[in-house]
Amino acid sequence: MGIMKEIDPLRLPQHIAIIMDGNGRWAEFHTLGRILGHREGAESVRIITKTCCRIGVHCLTLYAFSVENWLRPEVEIRALMNLLLQYLEDEAREMMDQGIRLTAIGDLDSLEAPVLRKLQETIEKTAGNPGMILNLALSYGGRDEIATAAKRMVGDALAGKIAPADVTRELFSKYLYTTGIPDPDLLIRTGGEYRVSNFLLYQMAYTEFYFTDILWPDFRETDLLTAIAEYQRRERRFGMTSEQIGGR
Ligand code: FPP
Repeated sequence: MGIMKEIDPLRLPQHIAIIMDGNGRWAEFHTLGRILGHREGAESVRIITKTCCRIGVHCLTLYAFSVENWLRPEVEIRALMNLLLQYLEDEAREMMDQGIRLTAIGDLDSLEAPVLRKLQETIEKTAGNPGMILNLALSYGGRDEIATAAKRMVGDALAGKIAPADVTRELFSKYLYTTGIPDPDLLIRTGGEYRVSNFLLYQMAYTEFYFTDILWPDFRETDLLTAIAEYQRRERRFGMTSEQIGGR
């Protein structure tokens, strides 16, 4: 594939995070119900996961369900939960074959019992896999994550396990859902909106953002590679000058 030639395998984003937006509009465009848009979106999840795994991305975080999504109509929530359950049932085998390690971030206890059970089962089953981390954000909210981390930290302080002077950004990171996972290098948002929508607020301090009008169910391998090629054309300075980082 042509676009692959433009990609430097030694400078891949280690961690890609994706806001998968536009399923509803895709369905509307094809005069289908919203649920069918989500179903086609799940197909993009399969393809993008496979591609990331194949090219050697270390971690892929997908925003599959936000805390705000609980406000959607009951039928749509049901359909999304069923899709997730079906996805986990269908893909467990594939995850084992590809060496994928599944993890999840968010208020997981708010998921219904069968989904949570299947999720935990797949996480445990794939825990020893050596390959890519597939990290699903479920019932996830960035502000809730930060507030929950603060709450747990205060608990540890009151229990005498930590003192105020111990609190650094590194220590704080350990209380987040993403502990052990590096910050995202690249955020992709499909569906033509230019917002962060409460996703990985603490972790995206130096993340490169890539926005595309392509709707999530249409976002496939070439589109991902195009985003990675664009990422590689950028210069990441982390607040320093171009000379300091050995750039232009
Ligand atoms: C946003 O599109 C997408 C979601 C709220 C859910 C994302 C879910 C999937 C891609 C499928 C299931 C996930 C897995 C991991 C199997 P939208 O409905 O907000 O689209 P719109 O803005 O066009 O209405």
